[in-house]
Amino acid sequence: MWDPAVTELPDFDAAAAPAGPLALFTAWFAQAVAAGQVEPHTMSLATADAEGLPDVRTVMLHGADASGWSFATHLDSRKGRQLKARPYAALGFYWPAQGRQVRVRGPVTAAPAREGQADLHARSTGALAAALTGRQSQVLGSLEELARTSESAWERAQREPDAPVPTWTLYHLRPDEVEFFQGDARRRHVRLTYRRTAEGWAKELLWP
Ligand SMILES: Cc1cc2nc3c(=O)[nH]c(=O)nc-3n(C[C@H](O)[C@H](O)[C@H](O)COP(=O)(O)O)c2cc1C
Repeated sequence: MWDPAVTELPDFDAAAAPAGPLALFTAWFAQAVAAGQVEPHTMSLATADAEGLPDVRTVMLHGADASGWSFATHLDSRKGRQLKARPYAALGFYWPAQGRQVRVRGPVTAAPAREGQADLHARSTGALAAALTGRQSQVLGSLEELARTSESAWERAQREPDAPVPTWTLYHLRPDEVEFFQGDARRRHVRLTYRRTAEGWAKELLWP
């Protein structure tokens, strides 16, 4: 783990951390990019189904700002259905270039349709084609069926870059808790957690 050939563990001065987690996340994200971290915007999204059983998959971060941590998917996908039943989720980022992990938990809300469609149409033709293909998480009969549907979705995405995808939804996770983990070569990892309170954010160190 953390081979010095691929990982450079920075010092993390938790005492000097900002008052809120968004500023620290923004700084760590920029540092991950600068450190050459591959795809730092991919994250694990954990949800629970109607029975409370956990589920997890990788999605892309579409932004982190005053609206929360955002991601997009189909309303009728497995995760979309889970979020409808239990609108609460957790996100996990792992950035091995610096031995860093960030965990985020909180309630999730669907953004207004207009916002989700604008977010989609600002992305690539491939992203639109994938969204237009739809039926995410349904049973697929054959790969030939996927190839045919995907081909016509690509053609439509090129012809109609503003094509609406009614099920495509932008979600905002408003954090209750955000934890920053900085790995240390001697295993004295630094964990700093932010918890939302009535007054703002409470910061605490955690045993590793
Ligand atoms: C790197 C990567 C990025 C992904 N990004 C997204 C995404 O932003 N939105 C999405 O719906 N699925 C994305 N996926 C696919 C999901 O991991 C998952 O297979 C799909 O959304 C179906 O999940 P579900 O059955 O739990 O709804 C991504 C997969 C990978 C490997």
